Amino acid sequence: MSKTFTLGNSKEQIQNLLPDSVIKRVKVGERSIGLVRRGEKFFAFSGTCPHRGASLIEGSINGLDELICPLHQYRFELKTGKVSVGSCGDLEVFPCELTAEGLKISMPYSSNS
Ligand code: FES
Repeated sequence: MSKTFTLGNSKEQIQNLLPDSVIKRVKVGERSIGLVRRGEKFFAFSGTCPHRGASLIEGSINGLDELICPLHQYRFELKTGKVSVGSCGDLEVFPCELTAEGLKISMPYSSNS
């Protein structure tokens, strides 16, 4: 089960709020998550690294659309959350889509991290 949240109220507002490749922290429901734009694609992910809990808001993005954790440089595919370099569980990611009403983010109901 998931619940959809809408950030902003127009496409233009979201595009202006999110410069390309800059990770932003946003509060969605009870959670603080990371959000990044890559051209016309948007990715939402857990703000906490599944390895040792570093803040992924301080992470960086490479040319392969991977998120790099600042602490041990593990890498996660932004699209799927799959760990691509490192040995830990996958990163939690949340489907999101830019619409005329803003950015829709789909969050699971039962998660408390
Ligand atoms: S805490 Fe993120 S890679 Fe170790």
